[in-house]
Amino acid sequence: MSKQHTISDYDEASKALREKNLRQALYDEGSVIMQDVLVNLHGDEHRARRSLETQVFRRDFFRYYETEVFPTTLKETLAPYIESGEMDLVDFGYRVMVNLTVDFTGIDRPLKTPEETADLMALTQLFGRTATMAHATVDRDALRAEAREALDRFDETYVVPSIASRTEKLQQLKAGEITEEDLPRDVLTVLLRNEDNIDMTRDMLTREMAFFTLAGAHTSIHTLTHAMHEMLTWTSAHPEDRKRIDEAPRFIQRCVFESIRLHPSSPIASRRSLCPMHIEQHDIDEGDSVIIDLQTANRSTDMFGSDASEFNPHRDIPKGQQGYGLSFGRGMHACLGLNLAAGVMPPEDKTVDHMGTVALISQVLFQAGVRPDPDKTAEKDTRTERDLWGYYPVRLGPV
Ligand code: HEM
Repeated sequence: MSKQHTISDYDEASKALREKNLRQALYDEGSVIMQDVLVNLHGDEHRARRSLETQVFRRDFFRYYETEVFPTTLKETLAPYIESGEMDLVDFGYRVMVNLTVDFTGIDRPLKTPEETADLMALTQLFGRTATMAHATVDRDALRAEAREALDRFDETYVVPSIASRTEKLQQLKAGEITEEDLPRDVLTVLLRNEDNIDMTRDMLTREMAFFTLAGAHTSIHTLTHAMHEMLTWTSAHPEDRKRIDEAPRFIQRCVFESIRLHPSSPIASRRSLCPMHIEQHDIDEGDSVIIDLQTANRSTDMFGSDASEFNPHRDIPKGQQGYGLSFGRGMHACLGLNLAAGVMPPEDKTVDHMGTVALISQVLFQAGVRPDPDKTAEKDTRTERDLWGYYPVRLGPV
């Protein structure tokens, strides 16, 4: 009979994430969306797909998004809230992130209307809840059926026309009518071009589109709400740091890293063993389940000090580690969107020029005078066992 092992020591968890003979198992329940998507593949199949898709996520691309594309999207999305003086951070996060993630996924938004954004938001939320079904507290069969129907509609409404427009562009490229620079820079284009000739069916393509949309949006949005909560709580207890938020991008980035360490978007990684092995006093047999407890490992007092379970943006980070701990994974499945979401932390003597979308949104919200709404109460999402905010009301503008 197969056994379950839980790894919670920081170094051992890091080792387990990099172990090639442990196969992804977190998304088995959410297979309606997650079957055969990148994060669920293993070995050569995973390597081939990842190396093709990585082309989209190079550093210059993130810099371009962060400096050229994102500030405009952010400003436009924020404007009506500044006008009304209030918002729900969770809803706002979805609104601002979803258009960004569908763009790099390769889903066209022909209408560019608020209704279209709302539809994509609803689909992304549903796909996110389906992918993480292992932690759902609602009827799983009903969720599965809803997701199946939504995936068909996502395919018809968005994927089919997006494939058509890219196929036409690729034909124009072949005919010499356009150049490489005229091609959209997104995952769908790379997959349709398929220069490495990987095997991928049409159904897999649609699921991969849904996966990239949710992988980019769901994680960043919940990270944003946790980070804002931590920063609002911290600055209310440490008013001297409010000025740092306004003046030092590095401080905001440190706050975001610290929050990501405490609140990894999935509290665990889950794997299945492909052969017998030994990790942290566990004798693991082939077929055993291995739970890598990221949340506990990230709160290791040996690694992060005696107050490791608390938010402290001034924490000393051990040499060779990042402030966000293991929250972006390690090894073969390490997050492809790390630089987009979290930016790059430069050495102390260099200025921050790439702080990542979560820190950028936080900075803009603080500039807009964000503070908790005194008349409304924030709530956690009760549809999942994951520690996520479901509703986070704030006020903006002058007090
Ligand atoms: C704060 C935000 C984010 C967090 C905390 C996060 C976290 C993670 C983690 C923990 C994994 C590894 C899963 C595992 O080992 O089983 C992962 C994988 C992945 N992430 Fe992220 N992620 C974030 C944002 C993004 C964004 C913005 C993108 C957009 C491109 C993205 C795309 C991916 C992809 C494609 C994978 C799968 C990589 C593979 O299997 O080879 N993530 N992410």
